[in-house]
Amino acid sequence: MLDAKYVNRLLHCDCVAGMQELPDECIPLTVTSPPYDDMREYGGHLFDFEAIAQQLYRVTMPGGVVVWVVRDAVVSRGESGTSFRQALRFQELGFLLYETIIMDRTGYYYGNNPRYGGSPEYAFVLSKGKPMTLNFITDRRNKNVGARQRCHRRRKDGGIDKCGLSKPIGMWGRRGRVWVYSVGFNQTTKDKAAYRHSALMPEAMAEDLIVSFSLPGDLVFDPFSGAGTTAKMALLNCRRYLGMEIHEPYHDTALQRIQVAQAELARRLDKSLGIHLTQKANRAAFRCERIELPERHEGNQK
Ligand SMILES: C[S@@+](CC[C@H](N)C(=O)[O-])C[C@H]1O[C@@H](n2cnc3c(N)ncnc32)[C@H](O)[C@@H]1O
Repeated sequence: MLDAKYVNRLLHCDCVAGMQELPDECIPLTVTSPPYDDMREYGGHLFDFEAIAQQLYRVTMPGGVVVWVVRDAVVSRGESGTSFRQALRFQELGFLLYETIIMDRTGYYYGNNPRYGGSPEYAFVLSKGKPMTLNFITDRRNKNVGARQRCHRRRKDGGIDKCGLSKPIGMWGRRGRVWVYSVGFNQTTKDKAAYRHSALMPEAMAEDLIVSFSLPGDLVFDPFSGAGTTAKMALLNCRRYLGMEIHEPYHDTALQRIQVAQAELARRLDKSLGIHLTQKANRAAFRCERIELPERHEGNQK
């Protein structure tokens, strides 16, 4: 059980030092986006991937998931490949590379870019054994609603096995592996203060990952919390949060942002609008009444 001092907290620290304080196997879900190659400076702090990966493996619960959202810089005219090397190292450490989701964004500016787009962002879903929580988002509208399909399965020898008819196709199907987000001012987030951070995760992306791989009340960890996007979306979706950020100005921004989010959650609960927070998946499972309101933060916790 994780000590209360780590629950609903944003810590100003180096995440390796911060994780070293945590007990083994205490984190059910991490949603994080580390610095991408050397695309941004973030105050010039050290990024020790090997130590971070080892600590992440140690603190993740059996059945827990780490979503590592990463993208390559273009160096010497080619993509660096750092993201793939990181994914392979996570595998060597014992994680399953459970799946890879491509995070695309709208509104590319092509300019002189001699490619189909910017380098893609990958969300590597790494699990310690079989993931204990999978709530698939079903927001893809099916074409043949009501029809039944006969499934065919290709055998290893190339032959085809026929199986029975499917259930009638419902209105909504499971989302695929390419998720698309609108980004830019007022779209990544509506929190104006958050744009002090130069590399925000879109709130919708953090929310989709959190609801897919955790349940209300679970702790959601972000070792690179930046302006606190993961923590904010965890809070608003009735999860607990723990964030670590090394660069003080970003940490301060995250503290301010989480206070605004706490007020927003309190408003939603107070007004008791039925407290069915807008969820894209499995609405019944996301009722907030059962979840106690996290304590308020007081100031900067170092
Ligand atoms: C890509 S940004 C994360 C942005 C965040 N997802 C958000 O939406 O605000 C990466 C962050 O990691 C922080 N960082 C870099 N090295 C760190 C370390 N060793 N420990 C903790 N934070 C670190 C940087 O300062 C930066 O804010």
